[in-house]
Amino acid sequence: ILRDEVKHVLEPFELTDEQLRRVMANLNTEMINSLKSDGDIDKNDLGMFPTYVHRGPNGQETGEYLVVDLGGSNFRVSHVVIEGRNRINLKNKIFLIPHSLLLGEGERLFDYIAECLQRFIDDNGLNLNKPVDYTFDLAFTFSFPCNQTSLSQATLVSWTKGFSCTGVVGHDVVLMLQQAIDRRKSLKIQVVALVNDTVGTLMACSSIYRDCKVGVILGTGTNACYFENIENVPKWTGVRNQTTKQVVINTEWGALGKHACLDFIRTSIDRELDESSLTPNQQVFEKMISALYLGEIVRLIIVDLVQRSILLPGRMHKSPSLGRDYNIFLSLRGSFYAKHVADIECDTTEDLSVTSLILTSIGIQEPSYDDCYIIREVCKTVSLRASRLAAAAIAVLVNRVNLPSVTVGIDGTLFRHHGKFKKNLTRTLSRLVPRTHRLVLSEDGSSKGSALVAAVHRYTNEIAT
Ligand code: BG6
Ligand code: GLC
Repeated sequence: ILRDEVKHVLEPFELTDEQLRRVMANLNTEMINSLKSDGDIDKNDLGMFPTYVHRGPNGQETGEYLVVDLGGSNFRVSHVVIEGRNRINLKNKIFLIPHSLLLGEGERLFDYIAECLQRFIDDNGLNLNKPVDYTFDLAFTFSFPCNQTSLSQATLVSWTKGFSCTGVVGHDVVLMLQQAIDRRKSLKIQVVALVNDTVGTLMACSSIYRDCKVGVILGTGTNACYFENIENVPKWTGVRNQTTKQVVINTEWGALGKHACLDFIRTSIDRELDESSLTPNQQVFEKMISALYLGEIVRLIIVDLVQRSILLPGRMHKSPSLGRDYNIFLSLRGSFYAKHVADIECDTTEDLSVTSLILTSIGIQEPSYDDCYIIREVCKTVSLRASRLAAAAIAVLVNRVNLPSVTVGIDGTLFRHHGKFKKNLTRTLSRLVPRTHRLVLSEDGSSKGSALVAAVHRYTNEIAT
């Protein structure tokens, strides 16, 4: 039985359906406003970026592509061969990016990507049996907010998710990658498309399910894209004709809340997390949902409970300089991960031994059963709030797409590996939208899907000439 004090601390994290419906209404309003605007991200919460992707694959597309996938928990290079509907072969390799590159000079990051491409091509002998002047087409999965002026021109609006390289914001990232590739004389690669991970996920899924009109990422960050009718996009400046009736919009919904529309559910812990982050007052919604932040929310609540002497009583020592209970682990920002939240939440052992082991492994010595019980409640509450907020956001897009049935393609570590998260999300979504919908995991979505974007583009150009 939870003590009243714990209930009191966790209460602000418990959202009613009424609050979720208010989140839905606010998100929908922000979407409509941002579609109207001239793209001024300072006035509106959301980017709502048109992506220059107008349709899903029709099964006729073929070809060989390289894909670079930057922005999720893994940086990957892939070789994708498309031979028709459902015949996609993918070979990929994960490369580690040194942390210093994420915070250093942008040009060095792009040089490193080009170096990885070179290694990947050489290691897999991709150049063997190719004509000397053979040039690979490359799709660049770049999972950050970009203002696109064509499929292969994209200005980075801001970094999110802990990336913070200098000299990239305000620049065309396709050009930066192309220049880095061209600096290596032995590489013959043309960057043909810039693709957000949500768009890759949508394309991969829509190659299998015709009614897949929404792509969602629930991972390190969170975001979604969907097919919108061009007539509903006043800010669209591209072609409007019989064949381009729709365009995929990258919503960048993680930015919701920038102008206070989520203040009615934000807790003091959310504000504390935000203020000490790399991006204060940015990505407010994302900071309540995605894997990069869930662990930190839990850690801050634990610290609060320790300071109130509710948790770990007597097992923390006073720091003379801080004048309060101190534990090296609990005092370190970012030291509690979403994976810990997931594993503790799913602990069904009678003595909570899984929770106890995790807590011990991170430096909390000999937690009592009560400590473990309370921390499991904290994890459950934070994860439930995240899944319910994600459900509310997905509900808005399912409604906007407005079809008799909609498939939503989803990728990302939270959806893939966090069992309870997916279950709670599904349950809440069914309550919020009566419309028929299904949620489908999009395997290797972004890499396959980005290659499909390049393939659709090539096919469209070929039949036009
Ligand atoms: C994958 C992509 O499909 O999903 C990544 O290949 C993407 O680039 C990712 O960002 C999201 O998952 P996570 O959890 O790795 O951020
Ligand atoms: C962040 C990025 C967005 C991306 C999402 C998921 O919100 O800004 O572009 O799609 O993370 O990776």
